[in-house]
Amino acid sequence: LITDIRLRRVLDSRGNPTVEADVLTESGGFGRAAAPSGASTGEFEAIELPANEAIAAAREHAVPRLVGEVYAGDQRSVDAALRAADGTEDFSEIGANSAVAISMAAAKAGADVLGAPLFQHLGGAFRGENFPIPLGNVIGGGEHAADATDIQEFLSAPVGAPSVADAVFANAAVHQEIHDILLERDLPSGKGDEGAWAPSVDDTEAFEIVDEAVSTVSEELGFEIKFGLDVAAAEMYDEDEGGYVYDDQVRDTDEQIEYIAELVEEYDLVYVEDPLDENDFDAFTELTEQVGDQTLICGDDLFVTNVERLEDGIEQDAANSILIKPNQIGTLTDAFDAIELATRNEYGTIVSHRSGETEDATIAHLAVATDAEFIKTGAVGGERTAKLNELIRIADDAA
Ligand code: PGA
Ligand code: ZN
Repeated sequence: LITDIRLRRVLDSRGNPTVEADVLTESGGFGRAAAPSGASTGEFEAIELPANEAIAAAREHAVPRLVGEVYAGDQRSVDAALRAADGTEDFSEIGANSAVAISMAAAKAGADVLGAPLFQHLGGAFRGENFPIPLGNVIGGGEHAADATDIQEFLSAPVGAPSVADAVFANAAVHQEIHDILLERDLPSGKGDEGAWAPSVDDTEAFEIVDEAVSTVSEELGFEIKFGLDVAAAEMYDEDEGGYVYDDQVRDTDEQIEYIAELVEEYDLVYVEDPLDENDFDAFTELTEQVGDQTLICGDDLFVTNVERLEDGIEQDAANSILIKPNQIGTLTDAFDAIELATRNEYGTIVSHRSGETEDATIAHLAVATDAEFIKTGAVGGERTAKLNELIRIADDAA
């Protein structure tokens, strides 16, 4: 039984306050987790409140429904209590940041009570044996860095890596190789919010650089490395401008579909996230019909880890995979339901970090527990390596 819940403000990787939760149980179980935070958030995401407001509201409404009432290991009851305490669809009363921190901390306390690693508690005895392949953000811009690429993320995808550890190191090597190429080209660069290089180049040059870097590292390491994108196109889309606003041009919806389809062909992209606006299911359907058999077309802002939006997408064949971000929807139960629906409909699942992160490594366990195809959690930087190193440990543990 949960005996205490402590909530506090801690720092995230952008230096903003976020919610951290401790969950304690009668039998001495302990779990601690912190909420991440997005910058290019989807219009339909659950609501993040200012951390102090979220904490005050959760103390008033959620804590009394959990302490002395619910078992930490009974995730569905924990999350149902959070939903009941909030009373809205989008967690606008207690904040999705409070909800997700408590939900994840309870899961960790539940695992602690069992003496099991979190991935085992979440995945159970029938968990598969595959490991998710890490997607490493190596160059980017969009909402994550000013004066850089229009496309938000260029993602290294070491699809041929013989192990998780090899894949993690491959992405770091691609990140380093890109640094070398940028210096050769006299393009010194800082990094964006997720640790990707954020040079002042146009997207065409970024494609050249990433293509060269993955080929070089792939050859050096002796296994296949491809790459993918998070276009985050909802951030580019401007109805008044007539479509998708790039540095040097505006593409209307048909041109955007054609452009993305060409990129998939030219660069053999393995993954394309949010290539179109979050309200345009029809355009997603058109693109998926064109290239969905060669690449993963993934809905992030499109689906926001929301079962109802995913149902619409499945009905319309709008994509073939979904990004899973627990804080987009507010609880692990909701995230699991989205994963289950996706899996039943042969949609791939990609578990993801946010641009604002903490040392919390819950998503590494979630990705392993649910047999996610990929995990997107950066390539370098402490709040990213917290998850990547945890993946390496989990693989070591499970071996
Ligand atoms: P965000 O971006 O965390 O800033 O929303 C990540 C993404 O779009 O995948
Ligand atoms: Zn995204």
